[in-house]
Amino acid sequence: MYKSKIAGIGANVPENVITNFDLEKLMDTSNEWILERTGIHERRFITQPTGAAELALPACIKAVKNAGINKSDIDLIIVATLTPEHQCPGTSSFLQVLLELPGVPTLDIRVQCSGFIYGLSIADQFIKTGQYKNILLIGVEVQSVGLDLSTEGRDLSVLFGDGAGAAVISRSYNDSAILSTHLFGDGRYAKDLWVEAPVGYQNPRISAKMLEEGKQYPKMNGKHVFKHAIVRFPEVVRTALKANNWTIDDVDIVIPHQANQRIIEAIAKRLELPLEKVYSNIHKYGNTTAASIPLAIYDALNEGKIKNGDNVILAAFGSGFTWASAAVRW
Ligand code: UT7
Repeated sequence: MYKSKIAGIGANVPENVITNFDLEKLMDTSNEWILERTGIHERRFITQPTGAAELALPACIKAVKNAGINKSDIDLIIVATLTPEHQCPGTSSFLQVLLELPGVPTLDIRVQCSGFIYGLSIADQFIKTGQYKNILLIGVEVQSVGLDLSTEGRDLSVLFGDGAGAAVISRSYNDSAILSTHLFGDGRYAKDLWVEAPVGYQNPRISAKMLEEGKQYPKMNGKHVFKHAIVRFPEVVRTALKANNWTIDDVDIVIPHQANQRIIEAIAKRLELPLEKVYSNIHKYGNTTAASIPLAIYDALNEGKIKNGDNVILAAFGSGFTWASAAVRW
């Protein structure tokens, strides 16, 4: 059995900053409401038509460089996204072309907010068995073009932003390692946060009537999602602690999926961790779904909040419902 580690990280966000005040011009909302309920100040939206693969490419190039490998060393490309450019094939196919890596296997995974940790777990298994040495794992979202930016969609559309984060997962020859991953799901709650159309069981998959009804937009039962999130996040962190015989005092930093600052604060409180140990950058990017954890790792590293040898826990919860954690020795 081999060990795997996160060998390199890269990020890319659109330059276009959308503040809460910009949203006030589009819908009946206010900077105050958004800040108080979510902690979000601003997010990034694409301006030109940019597909998920295009947004991901600069993040991938940075991650490969940061890992000290050549892109030709990549054995597998895994993309986590809920906003692929097309229904079929997945974003990883388009990204493989942009990376000029013909022949390298491509895999899209669809587990929304938990996508990066699910991808990390998949990569970890391939590295452990020795099948692959270097895997490029991407979390990317182009959400802005798919949001209902009218007052009707305000509960959800003020939360989300565009962005990409990439990681190279490689065989480890030192103490740095992915120590554990734990994945969970409960499809009974699938419709609490979902995009109904296009639907796969009718012809045509999308109709004028469905568009009129707004079925192409994400819908969320926000309160219900919130209630589950503040239970599942601490629970899945504790699962990681137990698996590694750690107490909460052994943890240097928790990097949670960035869904809502109130959720991040609830995680800290329920785990009895000081807030400084639960990383947050939601104020500047909003919720970037699959991209949020690699974007947070990237920023935390740049801010000196993750150092070599640190015990790091990644945790996610979201649509599906899916939730997951990973314990990482940096
Ligand atoms: O990443 C996936 C996981 N997602 C999450 O974890 C999100 C979880 N849910 C949440 O974060 C919160 O439920 C929200 C931030 C989405 C909403 O916060 P809330 O405290 O649950 O607010 P609410 O939905 O109960 O709405 C309160 C009021 C309502 O008005 P009334 O009925 O009290 O008159 C809403 O219509 O706020 C209104 N409202 C807004 N007002 C201004 C809803 N959205 C907005 C808005 N601006 N954007």
